[in-house]
Amino acid sequence: MVAVSDPVLRPAYPVRTERLLLRPLTGKDVDALLAYRSIPEVCRYVPFHPMTREVIHDRLATQWANTELTDEGQHLTLGIEVAATGELIGDVILFWHSRLHGTGEIGYVVHPDHGGHGYVTEAAREMLRLGFEELRLHRVIARIDERNEPSARLARRLGMRQEARLVRNEWFKGEWSTELDFAMLADEWFANR
Ligand SMILES: CC(C)(COP(=O)(O)OP(=O)(O)OC[C@H]1O[C@@H](n2cnc3c(N)ncnc32)[C@H](O)[C@@H]1OP(=O)(O)O)[C@@H](O)C(=O)NCCC(=O)NCCS
Repeated sequence: MVAVSDPVLRPAYPVRTERLLLRPLTGKDVDALLAYRSIPEVCRYVPFHPMTREVIHDRLATQWANTELTDEGQHLTLGIEVAATGELIGDVILFWHSRLHGTGEIGYVVHPDHGGHGYVTEAAREMLRLGFEELRLHRVIARIDERNEPSARLARRLGMRQEARLVRNEWFKGEWSTELDFAMLADEWFANR
């Protein structure tokens, strides 16, 4: 019998896509991160609030310092760098929720000046690839406020299916949020690769 090793995600950095480099965030990225993570409109439908330089430094030393996924409950945030210019324009995240169920979740954010070029779609697609092909996840979800139409379009563009609409599901930043749940299964990923 062939032993199957435990899944882990340990990418060789930078992870290269057609136009991008995905890589861990560092202290050199503080100004670039501040440029979009401090904008209120960017933060409207994401769990974090507009960030200060201090918050960014703190994240870099804690949550964003992780460069691999070795167990459930962890998450990996990677910066999105445009290969042609070296500019950091956004970031993507992959959560590993459950080892038993093989479940994960993606999230993404981009500087408004760099939206509309498909960069995030390209980066998020690579995170799905890492999740399905390297971490061997079974199912990856995206949870999106219904009013966040660019994000829902992005999930659909990735080939994720809308599975649910949870009406006024969450008390979020002072108001009820209706949540759209998107998902993709490993079978679907490999069928459409
Ligand atoms: C959600 C968010 C990342 C989407 O950004 P985006 O710029 O639309 O995403 P992309 O970089 O993938 O660009 C896709 C857009 O560029 C267009 N585009 C241009 N060239 C493209 C290409 N080569 N490939 C794909 N799309 C391309 C697409 O048509 C699309 O525009 P459309 O939605 O008007 O049709 C962005 O709005 C954001 O950061 N919002 C704030 C944070 C947030 O809410 N995150 C999600 C929480 S659930």
